[in-house]
Amino acid sequence: MDEEGNETSAGRALPAKTIWLTGLSGAGKSTLALSLHQRLTRAGHAACIIDGDTVRGGLNADLGFTAADRAENVRRVAEICKMINHSGVIAIAALISPTRACRSAAKGVIGAHAFVEVHVSAALAVCEARDVKGLYRRARAGAIQHFTGVSDGYEPPDAARLVLDTERMSIEACTDAMMGTLV
Ligand code: PPS
Repeated sequence: MDEEGNETSAGRALPAKTIWLTGLSGAGKSTLALSLHQRLTRAGHAACIIDGDTVRGGLNADLGFTAADRAENVRRVAEICKMINHSGVIAIAALISPTRACRSAAKGVIGAHAFVEVHVSAALAVCEARDVKGLYRRARAGAIQHFTGVSDGYEPPDAARLVLDTERMSIEACTDAMMGTLV
């Protein structure tokens, strides 16, 4: 422990897995990714966030939101996660990744031993009420096509390693639960 009570790198090493956060826009994926990243790095563990919103601003700027483009977006991110894991670093992916098929493909790329599926869960009505970026309002107005939950589907995982209900759980409790998967 350091003087602030954080676990340090002097403690045990953690396996280089991918924590794959899936859920609706506004469910809390990016918030939980940041919280987990902070917890890990403060304890001396290397970790890297790959957030869909960020990736789409650069590497995947050529992709939109058709089913084929989302699948390609997920595929590329899974390949990045695999490389990050292979260099001994924990990857934290925060992507809507709306279909079981695309998440299963990601698991295939990353490897079942390293892929930790986490469903960041909040009801559509709650995500829509939060509407942090104003996207639901624009989607309801017809200004955004193929919007997940509004004009496009979301398939929740059948058997996620964790289901984090962000309507009821605190960020701390969600982060504790994610840390518990890194054993
Ligand atoms: S996916 O489905 O996994 O390829 O999506 P992802 O890469 O996570 O990107 C989701 C972010 O893109 C913004 N955005 C949209 N989301 C869903 N549907 C549509 N049509 C759309 N258009 C733009 C939105 O900010 C998403 O970010 P989050 O963090 O999920 O709110």
